[in-house]
Amino acid sequence: MARQSLIAVVGSANVDLTTFNDVFPRPGETIFGKKFDLGFGGKGANQAVAARLCGANVGMVAKVGSDLFGPATIKNFESQGIDATYVGIAEGVSSGVAPIFVEPNGQNRIIVVKGANDLLSPEDVDAAAPLVRKADTIVMQFEIPLRTVYHAVRFAKSNGIRCIVNPAPAQPVDFKEVGAADYFIPNETEAEVTTGMPVKSIDDAKRCAEFLLRQGMRRVVITLGERGSLVAGAEGIELIPAYKVQAVDTTGAGDAFIGSFAVFLGEGLPEKESLRRANLYAALSTTKVGTQKSFCGRAEFEKEWLSRG
Ligand code: RIB
Repeated sequence: MARQSLIAVVGSANVDLTTFNDVFPRPGETIFGKKFDLGFGGKGANQAVAARLCGANVGMVAKVGSDLFGPATIKNFESQGIDATYVGIAEGVSSGVAPIFVEPNGQNRIIVVKGANDLLSPEDVDAAAPLVRKADTIVMQFEIPLRTVYHAVRFAKSNGIRCIVNPAPAQPVDFKEVGAADYFIPNETEAEVTTGMPVKSIDDAKRCAEFLLRQGMRRVVITLGERGSLVAGAEGIELIPAYKVQAVDTTGAGDAFIGSFAVFLGEGLPEKESLRRANLYAALSTTKVGTQKSFCGRAEFEKEWLSRG
């Protein structure tokens, strides 16, 4: 029996406002959309929910606004069994929201309005120390201030805790600050912005991963959507192939990957198996609409994992 993982997510919580359509408006134009979906999202919250559904104990460190969405977001964490003791409400500020546009092939475009997420400070991480210090893994993304991410990386390292940095959404990063992270996990776009190098092909992704290793990253995983994920370290680079599915909405697939990968590693599974499993968990999330609501539970995942050999 694998040990139960304890994951702390220091990150964002948004409410997703998703519109599904075949075409999108030009400037000054109003058009009718096909379908709308309202759901809980935010890269941090999504990763926390994925980790919880995969069977980990999860604690969230976040800030929400004092609007309708703030208390609802906290309730959502609690109803999923996620420890929300350190999810604060920022008075007079809106919660993070994300208008999302999904094309018929499942591809998405997202605008994030950070709201209260932007107020999550290094002091909030320190205040959450009683929870975070117990974690086997701390997971971070870039929808909160980068100084908070850097502080959390230092916190993780000084407490001997594994840490995973997901530089999403893409923005320039201080390699000296994130170099101490155990895993740096961008997707293609994030890898391009981080390095200034194109990532169109697998070979591009390999060059990009080599560059990141030269900047001091310990282990780099570049997620490549339907092409799988590429893992790079001192021993070399390997492509971990994807699983074939019929995608309807890819929103949150990267978060499903990160959250589940953290759990599989935390349970003590070998890295390659953890990556293969995370590839499958992320792929399965694209077969359903929505972000958090597209993530499956551990039992359903294990059935699928076994059936895929
Ligand atoms: O990765 C998907 C997420 O990005 C959405 O839930 C949205 O809130 C944005 O944070």
